[in-house]
Amino acid sequence: MQARAEDPGTRAATAVRLNEKPGLSKPGRGPRSQQETWHAPGPAQAAPRIIAVTSGKGGVGKTHIVANLGLALARQGLKILLIDADLGLANLDLLLGLTPRFTINDVLQQQRRLEEVLVDGPEGLKVLPASSGIPELADLNEHQRLFLLDELDHYGGELDAVLIDTGAGISKNVMFFNLAARERIVVANNQPTSLTDAYALIKVMATQHRERSFKILVNDVPSAREASGVYLTLVQVAERFLGSDLRLEYLGFIPHDPTLARAALQQQPVMAISPRAQASLAFTEVAQRLWEAPAPEGLEGNLKFFWRRLLQCRV
Ligand SMILES: Nc1ncnc2c1ncn2[C@@H]1O[C@H](COP(=O)(O)OP(=O)(O)OP(=O)(O)O)[C@@H](O)[C@H]1O
Ligand SMILES: [Mg+2]
Repeated sequence: MQARAEDPGTRAATAVRLNEKPGLSKPGRGPRSQQETWHAPGPAQAAPRIIAVTSGKGGVGKTHIVANLGLALARQGLKILLIDADLGLANLDLLLGLTPRFTINDVLQQQRRLEEVLVDGPEGLKVLPASSGIPELADLNEHQRLFLLDELDHYGGELDAVLIDTGAGISKNVMFFNLAARERIVVANNQPTSLTDAYALIKVMATQHRERSFKILVNDVPSAREASGVYLTLVQVAERFLGSDLRLEYLGFIPHDPTLARAALQQQPVMAISPRAQASLAFTEVAQRLWEAPAPEGLEGNLKFFWRRLLQCRV
């Protein structure tokens, strides 16, 4: 049996409600810095965790985060599926150096079984590639929906987690995947527009769809202090305008690291070729924090449920 999640209640994540200070940590420093990896302990969880990686503004690092967090988790023996749901600008496959023959579109058109479309990524990762020009999921007919449900449900039993690269903004498809996932990682950097767009995304999810819980990951910043500033600004604005019962959990930060961009030029996630790089150490730490965080209450996380939510969503 592969290493899987322990009882999620036994080790605390950096769960921060509004008004609390984030427990910041520096990548590459502190007790975990000596190791490139960590050990995901404990018994199997019943259902895969479904986690959307999303942002208000484009270009803040979602695709790199999905690929590298996926690798960090896969290195623990966890079975991870990455879904490229960036239907306009699909590029997760590029970053992983993959050349998929088929895409999610072929599943939706019922021309291929899911297992034929899934691509083997590095270190045991499974990848569901996207393509441009996909029909809106809302437009699928009942037959297509059921086919998709069955395909994913059939496959989902083998997984520990699904990470979804949603694409940016508040478009219909981004909302679909965010609403269907049980957990959302909102990525922001220190650019003012990234913050305002992250807030706009959270606002739409909170006010129109009653989602109250978000994980915040700050990317591409020079220091822990800068990351803290981004997070606290978001918390302050959200508290002021959206109410203090909103839960914004600080997941940590990934530092600006030119190694990451250099790795991307070789069509590789930085974790794959430079595991000691600052960014890689940070990804390992964030993956650990993510995996040790308590799963959301009322989790009904099998893939069938995920797809039912997805296909029933109206945004
Ligand atoms: N921590 C980092 N350090 C240095 N460069 C980074 C970092 N994170 C991301 N980048 C760079 O930022 C750019 C955008 O990254 P990425 O494609 O992952 O963003 P995205 O949010 O997926 O974009 P889109 O919204 O267009 O899909 C890339 O060129 C990448 O190399
Ligand atoms: Mg992307």
